[in-house]
Amino acid sequence: MDQIISPARAIDGIVTLPGDKSISHRYGMIAAIAEGESKISNYATGADCQSTLGCMQALGAKVERREDGMTAITGGELQEPKGDLDAGNSGTITRMLTGILAGQKFTSRIIGDESVSGRPVDRVTKPLTEMGAFIELRDGRYPPLVIHGRPLHGIEYTPPVASAQVKSCVLLAGLFASGETIVHEKVRTRDHTEIALQEFGADIEVVGKTVRLKGGAKLTGRELVVPGDLSSACFFLVAALLMKEADLVIHGVGLNPTRSSLLDFLVGMGAQIRVVNVQQIGGELIGDLRVKSSKVQGGVIEGALTAALIDELPALAVLGASSENGLVVRDAAELRVKETDRIATVEAGLKRMGVKIETAPDGFTIPGKQSFHAAEIESSGDHRIAMAFSIAALAADGPCTIKDAGAASVSYPAFFHTLRQIAKN
Ligand code: S3P
Repeated sequence: MDQIISPARAIDGIVTLPGDKSISHRYGMIAAIAEGESKISNYATGADCQSTLGCMQALGAKVERREDGMTAITGGELQEPKGDLDAGNSGTITRMLTGILAGQKFTSRIIGDESVSGRPVDRVTKPLTEMGAFIELRDGRYPPLVIHGRPLHGIEYTPPVASAQVKSCVLLAGLFASGETIVHEKVRTRDHTEIALQEFGADIEVVGKTVRLKGGAKLTGRELVVPGDLSSACFFLVAALLMKEADLVIHGVGLNPTRSSLLDFLVGMGAQIRVVNVQQIGGELIGDLRVKSSKVQGGVIEGALTAALIDELPALAVLGASSENGLVVRDAAELRVKETDRIATVEAGLKRMGVKIETAPDGFTIPGKQSFHAAEIESSGDHRIAMAFSIAALAADGPCTIKDAGAASVSYPAFFHTLRQIAKN
């Protein structure tokens, strides 16, 4: 499905977002291995997190989507699935679920779509093999994964890449391993797994960038609320910052400090963003954002900040082009192994719109004060590329077509509906 996006004069209104994708994956998987029923409000509606529920159902969990928006999951000991487990477009499933399956008493196979089948999973099978796992991969590196369950033992591991998925995979495997599993991070990544495991009753301790988890703890079902997805909010924040007229409120957004560097970065560039009504629910911070039209300076994203903003870089690239001084992104080689090679897809989209960008193997430089010209832009089946360029289209000099814009439903099925409500022509 293509979408035609017309230029907008202003952005305003009040928005609520789908549940956070990262947190939903974790609650879905952990609830399925916890004893008894979990009730999860605002579980993500996107296709990725629905794939998680499909996989956990195939592994024996009972999943009920109630009319009031509650997702009820009854978990316990996992059962051998009758067929393949389908991760769809989700790299998070291939990495994290493999951790859960490595220590089970059965063999299982995880498959995915074309994009997932080209994304490396040896980054998780390496530490899992050290723990005693036996996993077969295509060409030693890619899905499908055939996971032959084996008894596991705890290890001490420092992931070579900054990856919450790798950390989470090792910790989830640690639940089913003998002894203690320890993960040291060089760069702190999102800590939703640590928080969720604590909530469900795991024996886990976090000190600085080290996480220790003792295997064998009994997890029990919980009632939890998934905060709105800050990575989805980012598209609307950028939309508001691109407009001369904007006043937008975004309700109930996740503000976990391992994710909220986005707000610090934007405010540091001059964005007028206020955070109000902050509260803590299930160990996660949640609050409302109000963003107004602002002159943004541009900046440099590198090192630990790159890891913290990795999912927001396509949207920030768009903002960078219209900022005063432009945007430089370094240390972002990981972008090349996301749903698409996002350095290449950001470059292609911006160039289609007449925007200058120079790329490097691990990043890009975008000069500031540039204009967006009307164009036809390929999403390449990548949800964040579809949404980032829909936002750029609001600031273009004529209507733009976003090809295969339906990809947005991987994380945000109602994205275009909401965009049309807040964009004023
Ligand atoms: C995620 C971690 C990040 C992120 C992805 C979701 C997670 O991936 O890009 O969208 O939920 O843990 P990496 O762990 O590969 O950096």
